[in-house]
Amino acid sequence: MKKGNLLVKGATEVVTCSGFKAKSGTEMQDLKVIYNGAVVIEDGIIKAVGTTEDILKQYDETQYEVIDATGKSILPGFVDSHTHFIFGGFRAEEFSWRLKGANYMEIMEKGGGILSSVRATKEATHEELYKGGIKRLDSMLSFGVTTVEGKSGYGLDLETEIKQLEVMKSINEKHPVDVVSTFLGAHAVPTEYKGKEDEFIEYITNDVLPLVAERKLAEFCDIFCEKKVFSVEQSRRHLKKAKELGLKIKIHADEIVQLGGAELAAELGAISADHLLQASNKGVAEMAAKGVVATLLPGTAFSLKEDFARGRYMIDEGCAVALATDLNPGSCFTESIPLIFALATLYMKMTTEEAITAFTINGAAAVDRADTIGSIDVGKKGDLVILEFPSYHFIPYHIGVSTVEKVVKNGVLVFDKENRGGKIC
Ligand code: NIG
Ligand code: FE
Repeated sequence: MKKGNLLVKGATEVVTCSGFKAKSGTEMQDLKVIYNGAVVIEDGIIKAVGTTEDILKQYDETQYEVIDATGKSILPGFVDSHTHFIFGGFRAEEFSWRLKGANYMEIMEKGGGILSSVRATKEATHEELYKGGIKRLDSMLSFGVTTVEGKSGYGLDLETEIKQLEVMKSINEKHPVDVVSTFLGAHAVPTEYKGKEDEFIEYITNDVLPLVAERKLAEFCDIFCEKKVFSVEQSRRHLKKAKELGLKIKIHADEIVQLGGAELAAELGAISADHLLQASNKGVAEMAAKGVVATLLPGTAFSLKEDFARGRYMIDEGCAVALATDLNPGSCFTESIPLIFALATLYMKMTTEEAITAFTINGAAAVDRADTIGSIDVGKKGDLVILEFPSYHFIPYHIGVSTVEKVVKNGVLVFDKENRGGKIC
């Protein structure tokens, strides 16, 4: 039997999330569920999906590795489309300062926050970053994540930015979870450039970005467009150059202050704008009109004790909303998909169906891969999550606890809670 040839049968429901592009507005509600379903995967690619009865009439199950999913719900592998999972050091102390009232941006302005992760990442070897990355990716996989986006941005110089991106490349080659790389050289202003932000942006844009593009180390370029970090004008210059060099665009937009990041994302045709806690009505409307995915990161708002992004409003205004963890060592140190589901449904007024769409097909769209992942459709990668429960409603209902029993990547069982004590297979 060939690896990657798998037949999953008898599922109480197959939540297909069927579609090949982002779903916006009311489309996010429709999960296109098949009851008593089965999925056939050949050579890692989905060959058929339908009712178990129909599938077993057409396919000889002795030719496949078989998973009996009786009493289970099956979904597409989750896509975590915004993370910073490669970093040196930790910032547990900073978290404790914030609990006592310190402010996230003020900590950074004093040389801490992101800048303290920059120092630790500069000191870390490729090997150390690699080990940490693999460990976090194993954990993400156990939550059902089969594709993850990862950003650089803890280097802010040529050598360390490249080191982070090279680590992601090696991890992508080794680990079952697919890694989509984003260059975030403009993540903070290094201490030595304080007051010389324009000079720093020129350095990142002219001396680092072209090399990243030339060596094809990143598919996306992102920037922290924020008051006291990078202005809309600086962000525009940097991202335009990235586009010229063939990179696709993301923006950390309107996170703390309403600066116009959402509008800039629409103007530049960004694939996604992320955070958006303070996005204006105009920005939301422009993103909806231009098809920019609104990637919401409620874990960060929760951890920073900020108001949540207006998920309900954005969907009602016709946006395509994606959800992601924002896993990073500072503002949101979590890879917990169940936590994000809980926050999105209980605090952002999203329905369970919308949250699932946001973590599957819309997550895929946020990394420009809606044609190959994010749904259980013929021709897509055989990436599946099998829950230990018969219904997707258990995901937010079992608050903060993972309901994922098995994970299939490219047609291969890569995580099994039931038989292997929760170990990566
Ligand atoms: O998405 N806002 C900027 N960047 C990250 C946080 C990075 C950090 O604190 O280390 C974010 O929240
Ligand atoms: Fe982020």
